[in-house]
Amino acid sequence: MKLSPVVAGVWRADQWGLDAAGLLRWMQQAADLGITTFDHADCYGAFTTEGRFGEAFALAPPSFRDRVQLVTKCGIRFPCDARPAFRLKSYDTSRRYVSGCVDASLAALRTDRIELLLIHRPDLLMNPDELADTFAGLQKSGKVLEFGVSNHTASQFALLHRRFPLVTNQIEFSPLQMKALADGTLEQAVDLGLRPMLWSPLGGGTLFNGQDEQAVRVRTALQTLGGKHGGASLATVAYAWLMRHPSRPLPVTGTGRIDGLKEAMAATSLKLSAEDWYAVWEASIGHPVP
Ligand SMILES: NC(=O)c1ccc[n+]([C@@H]2O[C@H](COP(=O)([O-])OP(=O)(O)OC[C@H]3O[C@@H](n4cnc5c(N)ncnc54)[C@H](OP(=O)(O)O)[C@@H]3O)[C@@H](O)[C@H]2O)c1
Repeated sequence: MKLSPVVAGVWRADQWGLDAAGLLRWMQQAADLGITTFDHADCYGAFTTEGRFGEAFALAPPSFRDRVQLVTKCGIRFPCDARPAFRLKSYDTSRRYVSGCVDASLAALRTDRIELLLIHRPDLLMNPDELADTFAGLQKSGKVLEFGVSNHTASQFALLHRRFPLVTNQIEFSPLQMKALADGTLEQAVDLGLRPMLWSPLGGGTLFNGQDEQAVRVRTALQTLGGKHGGASLATVAYAWLMRHPSRPLPVTGTGRIDGLKEAMAATSLKLSAEDWYAVWEASIGHPVP
């Protein structure tokens, strides 16, 4: 399965002020830019965002669905209007729960298949054999084509991957949050040849407006590189910095603006040198390379 080199995330879509026609237009414009993969989770918008995109798909010509890949996640339960039976925030990766989530996501998104399903957060009570068997059944039924996890440590990933071939771990990584460089998740991705997906690649926006010393240092370093690389924008340089990692990551954008998506795609043709990369690493960590 092929995901686009930049994935458009829709976690913040309920802040974009778009109706179904507007969401469809946004998806079509993204696809025209080469961003054909959309990142959902069943719980986005308190379990309402998938349904809003389903309304958008209902307006699209049937051929549009074949142009795009839908990623969604499940496993997090929390009490909200759309899920009144949930009493406490918790995780659930039982066969019954995951299968029910897939059926609910298919119905909400008004589709017959999900290209990639991720377990949203590590479930400390996960039974890996049961979950692997659930994945196998969902794949056989054609409801889900591929599977992965999100926010899993390398050992949590390995536990499941030994039982069922996962295709990705979606993790937090940005020039402001570099934990994944040190905790083994990115090494594991390189080792297995599985491209990680990176959430909050721009630090959730703090790259632009953060006032702490780290944010100011990183912003300055990215701006300097932008000047060196033909006036590339801060966001483009940040995406290029992420993509420079040998795991060949797929950044998951959070922007609602088409210009923001363009800045992400521009990074696919901006190649940073190792010195460029380490300049940003140094700015983030706050001391020179040892
Ligand atoms: N797996 C997980 O646990 C998990 C967790 C969090 C998120 N995610 C996924 O990752 C996606 C991205 O996360 P994120 O939204 O935190 O990503 P992000 O790209 O780091 O942050 C997006 C925010 O940055 C702002 N921004 C972008 N460019 C800007 C600019 N030039 N100037 C000022 N602000 C700018 C955006 O506002 P504008 O809209 O105005 O551009 C938006 O508010 C989510 O949509 C979701 O799909 C997954």
